[in-house]
Amino acid sequence: MRNKISIVGAGMTGSTTAHWLAEKEIGDIVLVDIVEGMPQGKALDLQEAMPVIGKDIRVVGSNDYADTAGSDIIIITAGLPRKPGMSRDDLLFANADIVRKAAEETIARSPNAIFVVLTNPLDVMAYLTMKVTGVEPHRVVGQAGVLDSARMRAFVAMELGVSVENIHCYVLGGHGDEMVPLTRASNVAGIPLEEILPADRLEAIVERTRKGGGEIVNLLKTGSAYYAPAAAVAQMVEAILKDKHLIVPSAAYLNGQYGLNNIFFGVPAQLGRQGVEKIIEYRLSPSEQAALQKSAQGVAENIAKLKL
Ligand code: NAI
Ligand code: 2OP
Repeated sequence: MRNKISIVGAGMTGSTTAHWLAEKEIGDIVLVDIVEGMPQGKALDLQEAMPVIGKDIRVVGSNDYADTAGSDIIIITAGLPRKPGMSRDDLLFANADIVRKAAEETIARSPNAIFVVLTNPLDVMAYLTMKVTGVEPHRVVGQAGVLDSARMRAFVAMELGVSVENIHCYVLGGHGDEMVPLTRASNVAGIPLEEILPADRLEAIVERTRKGGGEIVNLLKTGSAYYAPAAAVAQMVEAILKDKHLIVPSAAYLNGQYGLNNIFFGVPAQLGRQGVEKIIEYRLSPSEQAALQKSAQGVAENIAKLKL
């Protein structure tokens, strides 16, 4: 039987995620949105591309959650994106209402699904999804770290003129400007970044990574990034459906790991058919641990504002 993947929010990230997923041919796709006609139109357009790329999947667009019934994966991208001058946290209350509804409607129809959340502020929306659905924490994961790490990898590749495949970067923490790029654990073909790049160049890349989302918002002016975020979601969904046991930075529920409790937060997590199978704990330096604590404080404050 084929996998079924439902994407709530057929905007820029939702429809681009559908595109990347279709390329992977790992399941039939349902796109749901409140805008009438738009998810249907995008789904039909994508369906009509399948003969060209030779992928046998069904793509359905809908304004009705009934079409999501029996999904293996629910991806939540519904919500407002940032405009220039806005932080991700500015989206908190508006997006909480949207994500709450998406979570309620989908869990009622797909009680066994694994939830992959993208809507910002990401770590808080993942926590909200866990609370509203009532599912075990390992069945909810948020996408941020794959994107933030990919941005850092792209910047290092551009700086050094080396294949992106040789570059491994790990960005942990909340998906905000306090995120924690772990330069010590990042490397180029096994050689630590700190040995390859002069300190000032490395610091510039770290800063650009932290502000990577804002850089795109300022260029686009009408919304935020979507190609890279959607590719990141698709990689996580593939890891789950193929039971790959893939370790990627993800927003996962912490229950004591890294000294943090009752929070969704960006850490290396092993993804497989059960969702988050394991949290990997790095041995952090005191300054890295302090940076994570600072980032976690911001996430915890926003979770508290929702009074869940
Ligand atoms: P978009 O505006 O292109 O799409 C959002 C879609 O959600 C729209 O089509 C809208 O009609 C739909 N929507 C709104 N309320 C809904 C509801 N109640 N039910 C169903 N659909 C609803 O925005 P985009 O660029 O796709 O971004 C979506 C969210 O993802 C934003 O919150 C953005 O900040 C976040 N994001 C997070 C990233 C991450 O790394 N975690 C990366 C990129 C975006
Ligand atoms: C990003 O980092 C908007 O969170 C989104 O691009």
